[in-house]
Amino acid sequence: MNSDKLDDFLTLAKTRRSVRDFKPDPIADGVIEKLLDAAHWAPSGYNLQPVHYVVVTEADRKVALRRACMDQRQVQDAAAVVVFIGDRQVATRHFEQTLKLDLDAGVVNDAYEKLLRKFVPLAFTTGPLGIGWLWKATLAPPARWLTPIPSMPAVHRRYWLAKQVGLSAMNFMLAAHSAGLATCPMEGFDSLRVGRVLGLPRGMEPMLVVPVGYADTDGMKKTRLPLSALVHREQWVSAN
Ligand SMILES: Cc1cc2nc3c(=O)[nH]c(=O)nc-3n(C[C@H](O)[C@H](O)[C@H](O)COP(=O)(O)O)c2cc1C
Repeated sequence: MNSDKLDDFLTLAKTRRSVRDFKPDPIADGVIEKLLDAAHWAPSGYNLQPVHYVVVTEADRKVALRRACMDQRQVQDAAAVVVFIGDRQVATRHFEQTLKLDLDAGVVNDAYEKLLRKFVPLAFTTGPLGIGWLWKATLAPPARWLTPIPSMPAVHRRYWLAKQVGLSAMNFMLAAHSAGLATCPMEGFDSLRVGRVLGLPRGMEPMLVVPVGYADTDGMKKTRLPLSALVHREQWVSAN
């Protein structure tokens, strides 16, 4: 094990902060693209890659976005804002394409392909009238008595997308921090209004807004509960 690298990573993780004060300084060309590249290489369920990124740098659009984000000023002050979007229809849009990539690269074998072809439509599709999730939601609880049933994206779509977006955004924020840039993950926004500002088509859901730029603050303190209160070994242990 390379403990120096692990310590470096720990320092990176521990010193990242959610910053709300930004300098107006622009970000050098090509840097945002690298951060997005880091975000894009995050894992996703079935490698479906449902996360899209809208990068906003125009002053007027940032003002409109700020309004849709409960007037949080970091949206206007940061050099750029990246809005992380979840694609609700990703299983129909990406499945064949991502499966082919994985088959060609040899990361998916025939047996796994068979399983994916069976499971992905079952887990994701909601049928012609969009109500297929109803029977999946109704049948899952009794079926669980007979066999393990995972949470289905067809029923819990936003919950599924939130996981995918969260992992991608964390890559983005740590990459930004390693480049000397600050970020602030934000869920405080009206998704309908954000969608309008960005001209999002139906089915593309804004999940997280992340301003990025140079911090106008330093020495920000950071707090966490003691790790020992949150780690449970083998089984849940209740705190007294
Ligand atoms: C999903 C999520 C949503 C958040 N939404 C907001 C937000 O809308 N506005 C804001 O100022 N901070 C927001 N935060 C930042 C948190 O307040 C911050 O992460 C927390 O206080 C811990 O501070 P740290 O990130 O500097 O360690 C959000 C964080 C997360 C993870």
